[in-house]
Amino acid sequence: MTGLIGRDLLGLADLSRQEVKDLLQMATQLKSQQLKLRCEKVLGLLFSKASTRTRVSFTVAMYQLGGQVIDLNPNVTQVSRGEPIQDTARVLDRYLDVLAIRTFAQQDLVTFASYAKIPVINALTDLEHPCQILADLMTIQECFGDLDGLTLTYVGDGNNVANSLMLGCALVGMNVRVGIPQGFEPNSAVVQQAREIAGDKSQVILTDDPQVAAKGAHVLYTDVWASMGQEEEANDRMPIFQPYQINDGLLEVADSEAIVLHCLPAHRDEEITDAVIEGTRSRVWDQAENRMHAQKALLASILGAS
Ligand code: CP
Ligand code: NVA
Repeated sequence: MTGLIGRDLLGLADLSRQEVKDLLQMATQLKSQQLKLRCEKVLGLLFSKASTRTRVSFTVAMYQLGGQVIDLNPNVTQVSRGEPIQDTARVLDRYLDVLAIRTFAQQDLVTFASYAKIPVINALTDLEHPCQILADLMTIQECFGDLDGLTLTYVGDGNNVANSLMLGCALVGMNVRVGIPQGFEPNSAVVQQAREIAGDKSQVILTDDPQVAAKGAHVLYTDVWASMGQEEEANDRMPIFQPYQINDGLLEVADSEAIVLHCLPAHRDEEITDAVIEGTRSRVWDQAENRMHAQKALLASILGAS
């Protein structure tokens, strides 16, 4: 059992190397049913952005632990009418045992967590998507065994997924190369934080050359070129990001055993070709499934399930 009882997960760097390792092990044991845990608690989902995987995987994970879930869609609560975060947080705190929040500004999540005594989980902000990366690391571990020393290449936009991937790879001793057009780099404070975590164990490299980034990589990863909230920029971004598409050509440059990941939802033939996402190297469906196992481990650990 990891020692995460009562803790928030606002960003991936809230976890230590050992805690990530323990969570991945617990998730793997829960998936194989070698480990069975019960936890009759209530999870709230407060999502201000759309979600399929995160919403459903959290819900099913909590049900399978024996708990319950309340979907707090902002449109049917007072959140959309502008009730202050501080007030909503202190009220929900009195009802729920744990809360997963999907929102825009990381600061709103931080404010929420500072007013709620219950554990708060980042279910995606503009800055980070830590739950996604726990499932990604689990998927890579399933494919390669040991994570130590592997190289993951992320090509595309320097967004929330890129930020959390850099932190996640650094935490488990993986090299991470980010191939991103100039002007779309990941958050500079997060890059710095990832480099500090990596220390001399692994490397965090930024380049604007996708071929250089992908050379010999064990994992190729991408995400949409315009995230939720950036939809209006999507058309202008298309020609800028085109050279960063994961296609057969980029796969050729990677390791011969390389796998391809995408957090989904994908825009086929934009950031990834239909042929690659449907191809033999793609592990995106296992990756999506693992969201449920990884978040079950996280919930169990935070709530002290037994
Ligand atoms: N990958 C991911 O978070 O998917 P959803 O937006 O569907 O939750
Ligand atoms: N970067 C994407 C991830 C979606 C799961 C977004 O924020 O829209």
